[in-house]
Amino acid sequence: MKQAKMILDRDYVISPIDKRLYGSFIEHLGRAVYTGIFEPRHPLADDQGFRKDVLELVRKLRIPVVRYPGGNFVSGFRWEDSVGPKHQRPRRLDLAWKTTEPNWFGLHEFVEWCKRADTEVMYAINLGTRGVLEAQDVVEYCNHRSGTYWSDKRISNGAADPFGIKLWCLGNEMDGPWQTGAKTAIEYGRLANEASKVMKWVDDSIETVVCGSSGSTMPTFGEWEYQVLTECYNSVDYVSLHRYYGNPHNDTPDFLASTLDLDDFIKTVAAICDAVKGKKHAKKRIHLSLDEWNVWYHSNQQDQQLYKNEPWGTALHLLEDVYNFEDALLVGLMLITMIRNADRVKIGCLAQLVNVIAPIMTREKGGAWAQTIFYPMMDASMYGRGVSLLPLITTDKHDTKHFSDVPTVDAAATMDDAGNVTIFAVNRDLAEPVRLQLDMRSFGDMTPVMHTVLHHDDMKAINTEANPDEVKPVEVPVVIEDGAILLPAASWNVIRFVPGKA
Ligand code: AHR
Repeated sequence: MKQAKMILDRDYVISPIDKRLYGSFIEHLGRAVYTGIFEPRHPLADDQGFRKDVLELVRKLRIPVVRYPGGNFVSGFRWEDSVGPKHQRPRRLDLAWKTTEPNWFGLHEFVEWCKRADTEVMYAINLGTRGVLEAQDVVEYCNHRSGTYWSDKRISNGAADPFGIKLWCLGNEMDGPWQTGAKTAIEYGRLANEASKVMKWVDDSIETVVCGSSGSTMPTFGEWEYQVLTECYNSVDYVSLHRYYGNPHNDTPDFLASTLDLDDFIKTVAAICDAVKGKKHAKKRIHLSLDEWNVWYHSNQQDQQLYKNEPWGTALHLLEDVYNFEDALLVGLMLITMIRNADRVKIGCLAQLVNVIAPIMTREKGGAWAQTIFYPMMDASMYGRGVSLLPLITTDKHDTKHFSDVPTVDAAATMDDAGNVTIFAVNRDLAEPVRLQLDMRSFGDMTPVMHTVLHHDDMKAINTEANPDEVKPVEVPVVIEDGAILLPAASWNVIRFVPGKA
């Protein structure tokens, strides 16, 4: 049988984990909002029209922060359209997704939804078609107590207390030609600098995220980060990264190796941040916000057809990827990569949360269910808190079409405040189990208390409304023999230890 080994030491700490690593994203796109989180006529709608079945699933993910309202949508969005009496709100063309936005759900509704979902708002402003003044206004509307035009408008719209939004995105994917109001790095860097500076003048307790590249495959990647940060290093706190993977050629080993690219992307952006830091003789360190990440490719063709059938519709079934078992393994591997880079990646947003490339699916007037990718996200968010431990892993390696030296076993480990240790491990071998030898040298007595396994014999197995539990983790007896635990072929594993003897 294949063997692997992992050494953990309580003193080998990569970094504390920022809980915002386990964030997500709701965009005004497709059915994320309308018939996703908000469906007033649904039998399970609450007094605000929020679907209670969806809220229940969201709470299970323990998402600390949700990015909103876009995405590409935000670059043509006027935030003022989304506040005030609903019947007076305008209907607008959304050029990003070629749909019509009715503004039935807006800023106040989202803040209230976040309260009910036990999460916080990460609000994106429009720096595509708008500028510094609108950025200033929206911070004043949300966060200033009272006594000014915008803060009093918020109060007259029903919110006596400020929203207190702490985390702000300075636009979205401004390097992408598909973006409404796309910019060069210098144009955008200067605008982001001024917007962030002025937003912080309104409320100096906020943090801002400047747009990095839309992906590491962009032709301007690298140069973009360097130039943008050169313009705005002192006034921003994080730089964003976006990354989606797919398996369009049905090459599963290559697909499961994609996280080698993610790791490289993260390390490269961190190095660029530090290069600008050096050039500026700055003390401050810029950290990373991986504020869009996931698998995204299943729905591409279907979306083209939807646009043909219903141009400028509302709540179209856009980006409704149906995720299979291998997608869940990749999502698990992406989470492992993020935890292992917790010293630089402080914010992560699984893109997205409901219906649109999402862990949660709904049917209009019908049920809500968890897709396969829901489970690694739930596990990591539940147990991946505290500090990230440095796992020293010895494992055999293989080559795939685009990657060499791909580790068969990939893992991350965390330790919470109570000293409980959790290991997240994926066995990439599709045919054989691996015996993972655990050397937890400095921990003293630890009792293994839990081992859950997410596995399916069919890599393409999916969950549906009728069969929602087809792909789901199962708790297995914790068997550690001679210090080793078995990782089944093609599996996501969560192994928990508590301090002390059994
Ligand atoms: O998450 C879907 C889209 O992907 C977002 O709107 C955009 O930022 C990215 O290209």
